[in-house]
Amino acid sequence: MVLIAPSILSADFSRLGEAVRLAETAGADLIHVDIMDGHFVPNLTLGPQLVAAIRRETRLPIDVHLMVENPRAFVPLFHEAGADWISLHVEATAHLHKDLTLIRSLGRKAGVALNPATPLETLSEALDVIDYVLIMSVNPGWGGQSFIPSCRAKISKLRDWIRAAGRVIPIEVDGGIKLDNAEDVIRDGCEIVVAGSAVFDAPDPAAAIRALKDIARKLS
Ligand code: DX5
Ligand code: ZN
Repeated sequence: MVLIAPSILSADFSRLGEAVRLAETAGADLIHVDIMDGHFVPNLTLGPQLVAAIRRETRLPIDVHLMVENPRAFVPLFHEAGADWISLHVEATAHLHKDLTLIRSLGRKAGVALNPATPLETLSEALDVIDYVLIMSVNPGWGGQSFIPSCRAKISKLRDWIRAAGRVIPIEVDGGIKLDNAEDVIRDGCEIVVAGSAVFDAPDPAAAIRALKDIARKLS
């Protein structure tokens, strides 16, 4: 089953509780939370206190996307805040295997995120400790950017590669996914659809989530 993960980066930050409850009621599967440190990416967003506050508003799994340098230092903080899935960028750590193992040792799902220009081969020696791969389809930093078309081939290449390796590792795709290209990325191999502006900039965010769920259901 393909999962829908609304990204609250595009929600109204003065009403995050409401946004999270709306997403849950509309049928979202995960809440995607973007953590930016002003170093790994040039923007600053949320921290563990906010994740803890969101935790109190929803029973859905919280999918924390760490766009930070030295991610290992932050993993325990987000674990304590109630994150269920934690992804870190391969470009941000020299110790990928060790950091993923740390996330798993805390009982959380360990994800690896790749920027658009980062080759899939960077994952090859860590497959045994990866629970999901997050393919960035925009350069991280902001919501509302346009999908980079070359990422489609990267998604299908990863899907084929995972299958050939005999593994079950879901692929999450993040950036520029709208109602009109969600079907394409799902057909390419995406099993977790992140959507920020497509949901929270829509006139009716709940209807946008339901429409994404319908696409996911049709293709699952
Ligand atoms: C971008 C973030 C994304 C962002 C996606 O750096 O990682 O999760 O919220 O937003 P949209 O769907 O608007 O591209
Ligand atoms: Zn993200």
